Amino acid sequence: MRILVLNGPNLNLLGHRQPEIYGLESLDDIEVLVRNEADRLGVTVEWLQSNAEDALVDAIQSHRDWDGLIINAGAYTHTSIAIADAIAAVGVPAIEVHLSNVHAREEFRHHSYLSPVVWGQVVGFGYRGYVAALRLLHDRLREAAP
Ligand code: DQA
Repeated sequence: MRILVLNGPNLNLLGHRQPEIYGLESLDDIEVLVRNEADRLGVTVEWLQSNAEDALVDAIQSHRDWDGLIINAGAYTHTSIAIADAIAAVGVPAIEVHLSNVHAREEFRHHSYLSPVVWGQVVGFGYRGYVAALRLLHDRLREAAP
């Protein structure tokens, strides 16, 4: 099973960026936790971060034959029809992750263009959300194709 984990803009600053909101873990720390869990589950993970919308769209397209996608699109969550279209176009089962509880924050963070095209969201659990999303996607994919 191959799962792409995509991280959008400013997530490269995790650990320094508003730690009271996003936590003290760096993106590298989170990657290690996800890779450890992936090893345990026997899942191959590709881990990418980009600040550029087009690079995120390209990554989704170039992994169109992969089994699953975990995506924290950062602020593009709230603006990007292009990323939503890419997920819908490739049809790869996806989970949307947010470290913070976007629904308890500013109004503009309440709407996600991605929600209609993903299986579900994991929101507000910090770095744990990535590991949870991996387990959930792995479980659900195994159920879909044992
Ligand atoms: C975020 C929430 C977004 O609103 C914000 O723009 C981010 C991070 C999160 O993980 O909580 O960059 O996706």
